[in-house]
Amino acid sequence: MSQLSIEPLSAKNVGALVTGIDLVSLKNDEWQAILEAFHEYGLLVFPGQHLSDEDQGAFGRRFGELEMIVEGHSAVPLSNKTKDGDVVDKDDPIMQVLLGNEGWHTDSSYMPISAKASVLSAHVLPASGGGTEWADMRAAYEALPEGLQETIQDLAAFHSLKYSQARAGMTQSKGYGYDVEEPPLRPLVKFHPVTGKPALYIGRHAHGIPGLENAESEALLDRLLSFACSPERCHEHHWQVGDLIIWDNRRMLHRARPYDIQQARVMKHTRIAGDVRTESGM
Ligand SMILES: [Fe+2]
Repeated sequence: MSQLSIEPLSAKNVGALVTGIDLVSLKNDEWQAILEAFHEYGLLVFPGQHLSDEDQGAFGRRFGELEMIVEGHSAVPLSNKTKDGDVVDKDDPIMQVLLGNEGWHTDSSYMPISAKASVLSAHVLPASGGGTEWADMRAAYEALPEGLQETIQDLAAFHSLKYSQARAGMTQSKGYGYDVEEPPLRPLVKFHPVTGKPALYIGRHAHGIPGLENAESEALLDRLLSFACSPERCHEHHWQVGDLIIWDNRRMLHRARPYDIQQARVMKHTRIAGDVRTESGM
C-alpha cells in the first residue's frame, strides 16, 4: 500500500488532500497525523474511501461524540430520493433544507450546542453540478479590512434555521433544528478551542446583532459574508462516488452547489457534537 500523503488542495491553502490511507484500519501514527492536519487545514478530502455507514460513523467518533443519529444510523442520508426511489420536488420539506444549504453556513449553529465537525460522503451523484464548497473563516478574519476586526470584536448574532430558511424563500421547511425555541446568541468572532486562533463565525443562520437596527445588522452580516467567501479563501470539491470529506465547523463555512434536482443525489452525513464548554451560546 502507498504511503500516507497529506498535501494542500491548492495554492490557496484551503484544505488538504489525504491519500495512501484506509480509514477503516488506521494505525495510531496515521490517526495522529490526520488529527493534526484537521487542526491545521480545517478541511480534509479523502478520495475513494467507499466506507460503509458503520465505518463512517466510527471514523466520526474518533473526533468526538456524534450529534445526530437518525433511526440508529450514524451516517444519515442527505438525499432527494424517497425510499421508493422517486425524486422529491422542491416543495418537499427535506428538499427545502437541502436547497437552503446552498447558502453559506456552519452546521448546527442554530442548535443550543453548535457542531464540532461534519463528515460527508458521496453515494449517488447527478450528471453534473452538486459539488460542495468551503470557505476558510480563519483566513477571512485575518484578512479583514482595517478597522473591521475592532468593529466586530464585541458583537454577537442570533442563529436560527427558521430565520435563514425564511430569508431563502423556503416556506415549506421543517425538521431538525427548525423549531428551536430560543435561538442561541454567538459571538461574530470564534476562538478555536484547540488552536486558539480567531475566525469569523457567521453564515446564513446569523441575524439580529443586539444593539444594531435590523437593517444595519443584516447589512453588516451580508458585507462580512461576501468579503469572507471571496474565491481566494474557497475550495469547491467535485464529488466522485466513494469520496469522504471532514471539516471543522468551528472554522469553515460551507455550501451545497446547485444541480438538476430531477436527478438523484445521495450523500451520507455524520455530525460530530461540539463541546458544551466552547460551542454553547452566550
Ligand atoms: Fe451543512
